[in-house]
Amino acid sequence: MLVDQLGRPLRDLRISVTDRCNLRCTYCMPAEVFGPEYAFLPRTELLSFEEIERLASAFVALGVRKLRVTGGEPTLRRDLPDLIGRLSRIGGVQDVAMTTNGLLLPRMAADLKAAGLNRVTVSIDSLDPEVFGRMNGLGTHPQKVLDGIEAALTAGLGVKINTVVQRGVNDAGLRELWLALRDLAPVRFIEFMDVGNHNGWNMDSVVPSREVLARLAGDDGRFAPVNPEYRGEVAARHTDGQGHEVGLISSVTAPFCGDCSRARISAVGTLYTCLFAGSGTDLRGPMRSEPGGAPLSDAALRDLIAGVWAARRDRYSEERGEVTVAARAKVEMSHIGG
Ligand code: GTP
Ligand code: 5AD
Ligand code: SF4
Ligand code: SF4
Repeated sequence: MLVDQLGRPLRDLRISVTDRCNLRCTYCMPAEVFGPEYAFLPRTELLSFEEIERLASAFVALGVRKLRVTGGEPTLRRDLPDLIGRLSRIGGVQDVAMTTNGLLLPRMAADLKAAGLNRVTVSIDSLDPEVFGRMNGLGTHPQKVLDGIEAALTAGLGVKINTVVQRGVNDAGLRELWLALRDLAPVRFIEFMDVGNHNGWNMDSVVPSREVLARLAGDDGRFAPVNPEYRGEVAARHTDGQGHEVGLISSVTAPFCGDCSRARISAVGTLYTCLFAGSGTDLRGPMRSEPGGAPLSDAALRDLIAGVWAARRDRYSEERGEVTVAARAKVEMSHIGG
């Protein structure tokens, strides 16, 4: 079995299909940086669906079982159901999921489900229109996201909800959000992370997960931990004993690098072996043609990927506390989708 330098297998591939988004969340694509002048990738730079399918097949041959389509906002990629269909038909794939802000799901959920998508993870940070509008950078109303969640459920897709928590920004409304959404789907609260280079992260704006849980519980509540569904599960799940589930994603206060089996490819086909990587490995170039030579064979493509994984030592979230990492240049979240 292919493992990296720390003995971790390759199980999970996240594929970014566009660097564009129809929101401007302050912690991900702040409008001051990603404004009207910002140069997004031209279409010709993006991997084609054929190339994505070929890459995904190579990863599956090396052990990947779960595929997750991300962005930017993946629903902005034209003909996305076509890609989902291709991915879900790859033999050996057990799960095809998508991370989305949900805005376009009312239009697309049924087609995505029909194409073979199993589930979506929808991000929503607050139910307060003023707070959510400020966090998403465009004043978009939370009801638009709730409509997307509803559409996904109606289409028969599995749904999880992601909420990024920032102290002094949306933390006052966490219990309200949990009470309103817990009957719809498991809600996962994510500690604000220092991804990318523009989100002004500092430790003071992180609300540790144990504090989040205490706030959700209120005066009378009690939560009990639930055993992980699979090794390396990112969210530590808890139940309130009434059939509702909350997940805590504690990349800052309780890093989970030890079990990290995730690889990420950007929309231009660069392979990153960590969410916080400074650089990656170009797969598109060699796939299209070797310098002065023929395009790579499938076997050579697998060897290239296997070599990168075998050399991997990433454990950024564990190192965060050990060394000064602030000055390190990192890949943007909108290039690899979280
Ligand atoms: P499931 O397959 O549903 O268990 O999904 P997941 O929890 O693996 O995936 P999801 O993309 O929903 O993860 C939720 C969030 O956790 C991401 O958006 C990131 O913010 C964070 N996250 C996911 N993977 C990693 C990781 O490898 N490292 C760190 N530091 N954070 C991660
Ligand atoms: N810290 C934590 N989570 C983040 N996400 C985006 N940027 C950050 C950050 N800085 C989350 C989004 C979405 C997923 C793709 O990653 O809210 O749920
Ligand atoms: Fe778009 Fe998601 Fe980033 Fe928000 S977090 S700007 S919805 S990609
Ligand atoms: Fe994996 Fe890097 Fe996240 Fe650690 S910080 S869990 S190595 S992606």
